[in-house]
Amino acid sequence: MKIGVLTGGGDCPGLNAVIRAAVLRGHREWGHEFTGYLDGWKGPLENQTTGLGVAEVRGILAQGGTILGSSRTNPDAIDGGIEQVIGNVRAAGIDGLIAIGGDDTLGVARILTENGLGVVGVPKTIDNDLNATDYTFGFDTAVNIVMESLDRLHTTATSHHRALVVEVMGRHAGWIALHGGMAGGADLILVPEEEFELEEVCAQVNRSFEAGVAPIIVASEGAVPKEGSEVTSTEGTDAFGHVRLGGIAGWLADRIEEQTGHETRSVVLGHLQRGGTPTAFDRVLATRLGYRAIEAASEGDWGTMTTLRGTSIELAPLADAVDESKVVPADRLREAQVFFD
Ligand code: F6P
Repeated sequence: MKIGVLTGGGDCPGLNAVIRAAVLRGHREWGHEFTGYLDGWKGPLENQTTGLGVAEVRGILAQGGTILGSSRTNPDAIDGGIEQVIGNVRAAGIDGLIAIGGDDTLGVARILTENGLGVVGVPKTIDNDLNATDYTFGFDTAVNIVMESLDRLHTTATSHHRALVVEVMGRHAGWIALHGGMAGGADLILVPEEEFELEEVCAQVNRSFEAGVAPIIVASEGAVPKEGSEVTSTEGTDAFGHVRLGGIAGWLADRIEEQTGHETRSVVLGHLQRGGTPTAFDRVLATRLGYRAIEAASEGDWGTMTTLRGTSIELAPLADAVDESKVVPADRLREAQVFFD
């Protein structure tokens, strides 16, 4: 068989581990040939390919990013884009694709499958907000980066008796804020799932200082004040209709300082959370997902995606990944709140 592989959407640690696992197992067990499509759906749309064999995947297990490049190109938003992708893939003699990506990338995969092109999906996002999988790879690495940052920020905040607002990724779901904040001993965690009251945030900051603690507030980039809206860093949207978030930490820090009189600074962790080498957990998860994805492709299980269920890797319909996002349940937030001063 000839299989095309692509990675779409925001990059995340572990993408290369998936590619490596699929190529190595596919080559060794079935003798498959592979084509790498460059930059997400842009690759099959514009016929941009690269060689992808055993030599190309050697040594990439620990490497962050993606050797195939990524983009947020959406063929479904381009006139005739879906037909063009299908035509190009068929003309290249490719039997089917493995698409590694988040809900946008897998949404396109689903449309292609419905139009007769075989695609197996591998769920990816550091936000961990994809339904039908217990964890996405990249999330654990991001959480560890947040935790290490909070460990460092606590000492400087304490030395200067300052409050710090730390902005982390998480567009619709606060998983990174919740897990990073819990692991790093945050004094308040703000997530997109529950709008926050500025007055309550300020009261929490005052309580922390009264208890002798320089508070660290972890805020998801998608956290929203009551009677307010998401803070965005630019105008306009990408090809999938998403605004570019960013700025909630600075917005909050200014108001906290103004209303409490305590010096408050902001830190945006941004793409630090997505870069660099994956943790052991993410390497193993990504490898197992790639291992299972090539098996699914070999058996013609198109229209499915690999998922983690408990400790097992299973197959689920692509529709499960894209139909609704997995958000932080209220009781998980309540657990974290017990530890705020
Ligand atoms: O979708 C994952 C994510 O990391 C979001 O948390 C974030 O809003 C977005 O990607 C940022 O994407 P980009 O790097 O394309 O601006």
